[in-house]
Amino acid sequence: MTQFRDVLGRFATGVTVVTAFEDGVPVGFTCQAFASLSLRPPMVVLAPAKTSTSWPRMVKAGAFCVNILTDQQQAVSEAFAESQEDKFKGVPWHVGAAGTPIVDGCLAWVECALGAVHDAGDHELVTGRVLQLGVSEGSPLIFYRSGYGRFLP
Ligand SMILES: Cc1cc2nc3c(=O)[nH]c(=O)nc-3n(C[C@H](O)[C@H](O)[C@H](O)COP(=O)(O)O)c2cc1C
Repeated sequence: MTQFRDVLGRFATGVTVVTAFEDGVPVGFTCQAFASLSLRPPMVVLAPAKTSTSWPRMVKAGAFCVNILTDQQQAVSEAFAESQEDKFKGVPWHVGAAGTPIVDGCLAWVECALGAVHDAGDHELVTGRVLQLGVSEGSPLIFYRSGYGRFLP
């Protein structure tokens, strides 16, 4: 396990917060296991852990948003990485064109309709069919070897 984390931790990634509504209330969790999957049709893939208490509440919505964070949003990543009641407390958000909650000021967002959910060890593999997406100004938050960083071109 340690070697697995050590080796895979060397794959630097961006950081996202996946959000959705549960009975009109926004819910979310921090997610690093995210990637583009298909261009035609436009699809993405992500992997929620089976221990997540948020994802089961979100999957019922049938739609979710992947918010790609800027390097100014480390606190947002930390807030959404803890199992706590109101993770959106103090985090401004708005409703996207496809009806999902979007974190204000994120670098890019991808609103999706829930696609397939596959069993994958201690996680699930979830596909999303892209409905709406967009970008804002800024630089990405990076996660590398269990620590946050910035992208320096
Ligand atoms: C940088 C970072 C990346 C993470 N990536 C994932 C991930 O890809 N999948 C996942 O299920 N949890 C991931 N987590 C952990 C979840 O964010 C955390 O377990 C979850 O927010 C717990 O809250 P919940 O019980 O409300 O779901 C990550 C945490 C951090 C800090």
